Amino acid sequence: MGEIENVPAPDNAVDVIISNCVINLSPDKRRVFYEAYRVLRPGGRLIVSDVVLLKKIADFLKKPVAAYVGCVSGAMMKDEYIGAIREAGFRNISIMGESNFDADSIVKNPEVKATLKKEKIPLAKAKEFAGSVISIKLCGFK
Ligand SMILES: C[S@@+](CC[C@H](N)C(=O)[O-])C[C@H]1O[C@@H](n2cnc3c(N)ncnc32)[C@H](O)[C@@H]1O
Repeated sequence: MGEIENVPAPDNAVDVIISNCVINLSPDKRRVFYEAYRVLRPGGRLIVSDVVLLKKIADFLKKPVAAYVGCVSGAMMKDEYIGAIREAGFRNISIMGESNFDADSIVKNPEVKATLKKEKIPLAKAKEFAGSVISIKLCGFK
């Protein structure tokens, strides 16, 4: 067990790092990518799937904790996310896939519905924003 901001592994020790929907939850994503770079051996590979945004987070989503633990309000803008990986030192970064979430299904989810009701967020606003939340899969090399 460990934290992705402080990976319990020595430098240049790991062949491959995989991660699915975790980094968006970190309050310091840049550090996470530096840590990934540090522990990978030269030539090692990072393969990540994560939630990123195409539009800046809407104000109405900044407060609800459910939006953070639901992997939405902690998410970075797509370009910033890829930029942070590059800044950490990764090269040959390639996007292996991108997919949208179905906005209708998101707003029908009982937990999402309850949050919208509690925070008095109009359904149309929530659906519009849901379209700018995507899942991205990418790969980069040390
Ligand atoms: C959305 S779940 C994804 C879990 C798994 N990767 C999967 O695909 O089912 C997010 C996970 O990230 C873990 N997590 C969140 N922040 C973390 C951090 N800073 N360091 C390590 N793990 C973290 C949580 O404990 C949780 O297990």
